[in-house]
Amino acid sequence: MSDGKINLAVVPVAGRGTRLLPLTKSQPKEMLPVGRKPVVQYVVEELARCGVERFLFVTGPGKTAIENHFDIDVELVESLRESGKEELLKELAFERADLDYFYTRQRRQLGLGHAVLSASAAVGNEPFVAALGDSIIGLHAQSRIVRRMIDEFQRQRADAVIAFEIVPREDVVHYGIAQPERPPDAASDVFRLSGIIEKPSPAEAPSDLAVAARYVFSPAVFEHLRATEPGKGGEIQLTDAVQRLIQSGGKVLGVRLPPSERRFDIGNFGSYFRAFLEFALADDEYGPELRQFVQGLL
Ligand code: UTP
Repeated sequence: MSDGKINLAVVPVAGRGTRLLPLTKSQPKEMLPVGRKPVVQYVVEELARCGVERFLFVTGPGKTAIENHFDIDVELVESLRESGKEELLKELAFERADLDYFYTRQRRQLGLGHAVLSASAAVGNEPFVAALGDSIIGLHAQSRIVRRMIDEFQRQRADAVIAFEIVPREDVVHYGIAQPERPPDAASDVFRLSGIIEKPSPAEAPSDLAVAARYVFSPAVFEHLRATEPGKGGEIQLTDAVQRLIQSGGKVLGVRLPPSERRFDIGNFGSYFRAFLEFALADDEYGPELRQFVQGLL
């Protein structure tokens, strides 16, 4: 760790993306376009704005396109120069950002918790951000939530801080759901958790606060992941390890996303289509024309 700063993010991108078949048969879902960029580029740009400088991707079969995307492509740059397309070089500026990328493999796809655990040897003994590679926070990833979470983690000496978003009751079955220690106070968007439960039924859900794809963890989470048995869907659930952390007395905080910073999950077709449309409509160049086109269709 460099001088007490939290500047490492683990980005799991090893999932098979079966809900997006056939789109994801031979391409990673994290590389799907949303407007002009692949999803995972938004994730990196969001985290970089929040102070993350080192990215550890947890990859798996068929994910090399992600590694290629963050490499510096000298030949492409030269060919753009030679063919007089220098104005396009700005589209590759992200390649030259002062960030470090590392890759490790999840050797079997045993769930998100297992993917994070696969990073343990590379992470070592430092706190880190975990960010799902298939979710963007805020339109065009303009979210500062991870910065807020890192600051709360350090200020309150927490063991974990998790981002949450309010979802409709009928949707709690898709997410990890928070059990806040007290009913969350409308004036404060930070709360302590007394529990967390993976994909509850609407009747058993302790709240309508759903995990929103961003976490800050102390390395203690690894020992809880190692002790976590496969849960829902036969997968090692990150939520179950967090529940163990809470039960062992760990201080786990939730931070609610502000209403202006929604989570765009591209893991299923419904939310992927909505994300693409919303980002395309917000495009400076083509958005206004697209809006008219869509209005005409409706
Ligand atoms: P999902 O929970 O959407 O799982 O992953 P999935 O396996 O990719 O998709 P489906 O359910 O088959 O459609 C959330 C994030 O966690 C990563 C994914 O790559 C995605 O970015 N993940 C998931 C892993 O890295 N490994 C896993 O075993 C599961």
